[in-house]
Amino acid sequence: MSTSPTLPSSHPTSPILPNSTLAGSALARVLGGADMPCAGLAPMAGITDMPTRLLASECGAAFCVTEMISAKGYVCAPENREAIRELVQRHPDEGPLAAQLFGHEPGYMAEAVRRIQDEGFSWIDINMGCPAPKIAGNGDGSALMDDPVLAGRMVAAAVKASRGPVTVKIRSGRDENHINCAEIARICQEEGAAAVTVHARTRRQQYSGHSDWNMIRLVKESLSIPVIGNGDVASGQDALKMVEETGCDMVMCARAARGNPWLFAQIRAAFMGLPYTPPDAAARMEAMLRHARMLCGLRGEKRGMRQMRKQAIWYVQGLRGASQARIRLQDLDTLSQLTDIAGEIAGTKNE
Ligand SMILES: Cc1cc2nc3c(=O)[nH]c(=O)nc-3n(C[C@H](O)[C@H](O)[C@H](O)COP(=O)(O)O)c2cc1C
Repeated sequence: MSTSPTLPSSHPTSPILPNSTLAGSALARVLGGADMPCAGLAPMAGITDMPTRLLASECGAAFCVTEMISAKGYVCAPENREAIRELVQRHPDEGPLAAQLFGHEPGYMAEAVRRIQDEGFSWIDINMGCPAPKIAGNGDGSALMDDPVLAGRMVAAAVKASRGPVTVKIRSGRDENHINCAEIARICQEEGAAAVTVHARTRRQQYSGHSDWNMIRLVKESLSIPVIGNGDVASGQDALKMVEETGCDMVMCARAARGNPWLFAQIRAAFMGLPYTPPDAAARMEAMLRHARMLCGLRGEKRGMRQMRKQAIWYVQGLRGASQARIRLQDLDTLSQLTDIAGEIAGTKNE
């Protein structure tokens, strides 16, 4: 059985995007002429490895973004070369892929952009959203939103150094009393960004609570470049609702896509008004094993299966036998153990 659903090949012009600025934009050109809303896989550090992205792309993700890569680390740290090589590794069959860089020094950002673009990425994305103390505490990620002048210089440096589009991923602001997404987004646009992604949570919220999609609408109304909406899209209906409520040009999904690359097929179907049939347990287990085999090929079985532990828990989520499997998956060491678990689960019905 194939992992990938049969995807509709034609893109009818969507009636739900009256104010879209996607058609004809720099981003649409690297996406191969996107003229209707579509969904991409958001960056997730430690999660969006190459197999995750390949499966998402096969299931209909219009684009993927690498997990964040330190601009300074990429330029300066030869001893980390192996780790960095893994971050920029891509599969020849992956679709459009952006490299996400973080940092707070325009010089390192420019140099990283100059070098990383030779790896064949479709565009460069700048991280202005990460709330993690070790990132934001160092002036990187979401901390850039507290310094609009520096944020603008970072974008300008990347745009000047890049041969292709540069996008920026921001949050709503620092907290509910410091909402400045529209101001930062306008600066990004003025400095040459090709699109802005808005994760509609504040830095203080981290990943908790709900995202406030009004922030995405606010940014969309403030810009003439495309806006990508992000936060709490877990189904085709959510994606449709986000586009309808905010006018955003594309959506980006993170947590709901873990162990669930079919989310992108579901979203495509929703945008096109087509029915969607979710994969059965056997198809989900087959995808999980493909993911595991690819990871073993990339990292060796020992490291690959360790990295597969959390991924496998997401793939079995909601299936009959998942709770017993979860216990065994925590100590997963070999591909044959995973194959046994997959066989047991695939032989049962969805809950
Ligand atoms: C474990 C994890 C790692 C993440 N890593 C990154 C990252 O490297 N770069 C980034 O811009 N956002 C990162 N994010 C944020 C997501 O891209 C996304 O903005 C956020 O999860 C909201 O989307 P969602 O509601 O669809 O999950 C991460 C999120 C999670 C949960």
